[in-house]
Amino acid sequence: MSTLAAQHQPSSSEEDLIALFDVRPTDAPTPPAEREAAIAAPKFGTVFTDHMARISWNSTDGWVDRRIEKYGPLLLDPATAVLHYAQEIFEGMKAYRHADGSVWTFRPEANAARFARSAHRLALPALSVDDFVGSITALVRTDVDWVPSGDEASLYLRPFMYASEAFLGVRPSLEAEYLVIASPVGPYFSGGVKPVSIWVDREYSRAGAGGTGDAKCGGNYASSLLPQVVAQQHGCEQVCFLDSGTRTFLEELGGMNVFVVKADGSVETPELSGSILEGVTRSSIIRLLTDRGHDVVERRIPLTDVLAGIRDGSVTEVFACGTAAVITPIGRLAGSDFDHTIGGGEAGSLTMAIRAELTDIQTGRAADRHGWLRRLA
Ligand code: COI
Repeated sequence: MSTLAAQHQPSSSEEDLIALFDVRPTDAPTPPAEREAAIAAPKFGTVFTDHMARISWNSTDGWVDRRIEKYGPLLLDPATAVLHYAQEIFEGMKAYRHADGSVWTFRPEANAARFARSAHRLALPALSVDDFVGSITALVRTDVDWVPSGDEASLYLRPFMYASEAFLGVRPSLEAEYLVIASPVGPYFSGGVKPVSIWVDREYSRAGAGGTGDAKCGGNYASSLLPQVVAQQHGCEQVCFLDSGTRTFLEELGGMNVFVVKADGSVETPELSGSILEGVTRSSIIRLLTDRGHDVVERRIPLTDVLAGIRDGSVTEVFACGTAAVITPIGRLAGSDFDHTIGGGEAGSLTMAIRAELTDIQTGRAADRHGWLRRLA
């Protein structure tokens, strides 16, 4: 076992946490050869492991029946609240296989804390950090053979919670289901790690003041789909939203935060205004950049500043980040009255250096100096 791995042995309390989960193995596990073929080069989010973690909640008993069960369809009454009022939240995380075979995840407590904040905003029940981390650990240990190895490969983990009461009245559901599903993945974008083009939308907003923009709820992503289609109609791969009040300031992409690198070495990212998701990757990048001596400024960034900076050379790189996409260079920024190439359309050097540093930590190739990794198996 590597020194890095030895520093993060599961504590007995983690063993206690997963012991709460009743493992009910599938009677039809995927044959090993089929599994190996499935995880070799999967398209993002299309292949799923044999099991899922699950906990049920009702307003009388609280969280009950912690289990790992066969992955499969959910049976929903047509009146189930989530189908009507979108009372749903989720998270995105990854499990990484290190060279010695051990399996790790990245800052799960941060995802657990955000999940709790999202639950509060969507009037769903709070799930404890212990249940969140315990469920992920129990699922990954059950399906550990599904964790791929190799560059850009990981097991994407999708914890989510939905209102499961069959009731059409508009009030918080008295029943909820929490699940974790897992999907072996390669790069998020089909072209691999290469600069993407972004359409800056002035017609649609992702979120407004006092809305759900800082919660990770399905509705935010639903409202980003039409603008995403519009972006594609303009020949761009992703959409970037501006603030809903003035359509002046950069907010975020459909599912990623955004950073702007300046020629003087400083880096800017939109401040957390309440309508932006507080990305775990975002905060990790701020830390890594600060460690390197970069001045990182969180502020309201006018689109006009970025466009002027690209034109006069004071903005040298722009990149997007998120768990699924890690760090993705942006090579082109287009809108109704501009179309700018950034850094000659090539990936920026700081973008790729920070990407390499982050993925090296996640995959155990570099020291985990901030204690961000947690061993799962
Ligand atoms: C993630 O980066 O994990 C996300 O949740 C973004 C997207 C896949 C919805």
